[in-house]
Amino acid sequence: MNNTFANDILKGLTAKKKHLSSKYFYDDNGSRIFQEIMQMPEYYLTDSEFEILSLQSKQIVEALEFKQPFNIIELGAGDGFKTFKLLEYLVNAEIEFNYVPIDISQEAITILSNKLKERLPKLSIQPKVGDYFEVLNEESKNEIPSLLLFLGSNIGNYLKDEAINLLKLFNQNMNVNDKLLIGIDLKKNPLTIHNAYFDKEGVTKRFNLNLLIRINRELNADFKIDDFDFYCHYNPVNGEVKSYIVSLKTQTVEIKKLDVTIEFDQNELIWTELSKKYDLNEIEALAGEANFSINNNFLDCKHYFTDSLWVKKA
Ligand code: AVJ
Repeated sequence: MNNTFANDILKGLTAKKKHLSSKYFYDDNGSRIFQEIMQMPEYYLTDSEFEILSLQSKQIVEALEFKQPFNIIELGAGDGFKTFKLLEYLVNAEIEFNYVPIDISQEAITILSNKLKERLPKLSIQPKVGDYFEVLNEESKNEIPSLLLFLGSNIGNYLKDEAINLLKLFNQNMNVNDKLLIGIDLKKNPLTIHNAYFDKEGVTKRFNLNLLIRINRELNADFKIDDFDFYCHYNPVNGEVKSYIVSLKTQTVEIKKLDVTIEFDQNELIWTELSKKYDLNEIEALAGEANFSINNNFLDCKHYFTDSLWVKKA
């Protein structure tokens, strides 16, 4: 695991066009900064998905057409804040189900489980720490129908082919009647999207620069954080938000653990993140390419976001 981190950082920083993967944002500090992002008024994604699950849980559950009991398996559960509304609805309606949150962070899973046990004492919960696919594979061996949750527009971080491959893997690990509820951020007024990712307080900047702090700590590097800045850009034509770290001067950085020195030109970029926005036609195409068909799209009232319910193609 740690080795993959070192290898990926080495590969990304010695490439002709430097890049680092946003999946490495989420160390303990990064996860905390992401919580701050989710609380910013500009970061509409949280509010939109929260509204969908607050107002439409009943419709979502009806659309499943599941026999009870069933499983709800959440991939990358994180703090589980949005999911709470769905779980609360089910518990109050006395619907029989088992909640299986999966996350790679033991800390996140422990916090989530404790919070849920306190707030929903009647909830049946089986938290799992580890790799999505190992858990999925295990769960698909029993006869109980499953709803997979992949919320928060996490799919937006993947390039087209990677997204299709990931979704195909979900598909292959599902039984015929299982369903996937996937949260996807929609194209909208470009300024709304720009403001969500280029916030004035600089929280998203801290989120990106934290990756350099992580590299300093874990790989014994000497990035001078003040000599780097953040830039991001939304392209409303293709729906891509791309985020970058910018070197403010010509400089070199030593990464002792990797035994390399990295040279930066003034204004050279490190590409850190893609946050892709979709329209409903693109979502249909994406589902189709991964062997899914769409049952329903559950949108918030502003039409900023969809929780899209998918089934395996017959
Ligand atoms: C957690 C991947 C959905 O891309 O919107 C927030 C991460 N990056 N602000 C996103 C993020 C900058 C977020 N996801």
